[in-house]
Amino acid sequence: MKPIQVGLLGIGTVGRGTFEVLLRNQEEIKRRAGRGIEIAMVADLDTARAQQVVGHHAKVVSNAQEVIDNPDIDIVIELIGGYGIAKQLVMAAIEAGKHVVTANKALLAVHGTEIFAAAHRRGVMICFEAAVAGGIPIIKALREGLTANRIEWIAGIINGTTNFILSEMRDKGLAFDEVLKQAQALGYAEADPTFDIEGVDAAHKATIMSAIAYGIPVQFEKAYVEGISKLHAQDIRYAEQLGYRIKLLGIAKRVNAVGTREGIELRVHPCLVPTKRLIANVEGAMNAVMIQADAVGTTLYYGKGAGSEPTASAVIADLVDVTRLMTADPLNRVPHLAFQPDSMSDLPILSMDEVRTSYYLRLVVADEAGVLAKITGILAQAEISIDAVLQRPGSESKQETDLIILTHTCLEAHMNAAMASIQALKSVLAPIVRIRKEELS
Ligand code: NDP
Ligand code: HSE
Repeated sequence: MKPIQVGLLGIGTVGRGTFEVLLRNQEEIKRRAGRGIEIAMVADLDTARAQQVVGHHAKVVSNAQEVIDNPDIDIVIELIGGYGIAKQLVMAAIEAGKHVVTANKALLAVHGTEIFAAAHRRGVMICFEAAVAGGIPIIKALREGLTANRIEWIAGIINGTTNFILSEMRDKGLAFDEVLKQAQALGYAEADPTFDIEGVDAAHKATIMSAIAYGIPVQFEKAYVEGISKLHAQDIRYAEQLGYRIKLLGIAKRVNAVGTREGIELRVHPCLVPTKRLIANVEGAMNAVMIQADAVGTTLYYGKGAGSEPTASAVIADLVDVTRLMTADPLNRVPHLAFQPDSMSDLPILSMDEVRTSYYLRLVVADEAGVLAKITGILAQAEISIDAVLQRPGSESKQETDLIILTHTCLEAHMNAAMASIQALKSVLAPIVRIRKEELS
């Protein structure tokens, strides 16, 4: 049988890995797919560089539309990134009846609804295993492996760049900017690294997982997003002293508690995680996703979430899937977002005010009588119960002290109100640092 003909759009970090791994492992991949898979055409703006990578194995062009227009191409891989030209090309490929494989989480988190609907209409597949947690097959795990379960929550370290930065800063005492440059050189960071640092990339991935876990549309615009750029070194240190590590987590959680609105929490922010949890010990650019589900309990998926060949591994897994499924009935394939399109849920994404979690607070306070009593009084009035208190000499002067408070779970709205009252106290000398805490148990 003639090999499946693939067109590759963008041969940068992931594109190159995809091309090389596919060529290197072609025999084994053919045995698994039941048919050869061949990248026959490559489009990239830098045709000279692309030609160097592909040699005589594929035709190189500068205009990606040429790949889509080629009737011999069965599958288009989009590895350009972003929402601009990538969206136009993906939509054009769908309209041309091509199956699409992409690693572009930004595109799917923001425009997924439109893209999946178009693909459904045209009877083609959009595969995106590489879009979440790079080489970890988390989409397959959620969509197929855990299909028997009601997913309770997902908490993931799903951005390699920020995890790398946090790890290197903690372990080696390196400066933020220096570590970021290393992450960029290693090919982990996005074209715009503020997407990594400010939590946007993790929120794209959490959005995609929330859709698959709960059968809701992708709603990136409703996600709460907070990155690591405002983290202070002393909070990383204090957290360690209290038995926690700070991680940037992407969280999707079904909430159905008495007294709260039923819905989905969708949030990305730095979190204190107990050091004894496996996920707290995921270091460097590694990713890990923890899933709590009713039948299977807790499962943890760990691996490389970024980089050329780890991401290529997921892209090629999708190529094999498409190759196997190309002959299957389009209406009975595994649905893009796990649930059948006519069985989607309208569960709302909850506002941050409705989120229930626990907190780490660091206050710089005047070292005088009665301060602690006033602060704990405000917390008590807001029905916020204290878990632990730590007092450490402040760095600036002898008249001030750092006060670290860990709380039990409460409503974010109550915490916001309490923080506003505490901040207004004359003896509170600097903006309060608040980091949310997830026990993950
Ligand atoms: P790169 O920037 O390394 O590669 C993108 C390539 O696309 C470049 O070679 C670029 O050329 C080319 N390109 C840009 N515009 C066009 C166009 N109009 N037509 C054809 N080619 C074009 O990005 P990555 O490989 O890192 O990322 C690709 C995708 O994979 C992104 O969506 C990213 O978010 C995702 N991803 C990346 C991971 C990683 O570890 N890097 C991991 C998981 C997902 P030029 O350089 O000349 O502009
Ligand atoms: N910039 C992303 C990261 C690449 O650092 O995790 C993988 O999606």
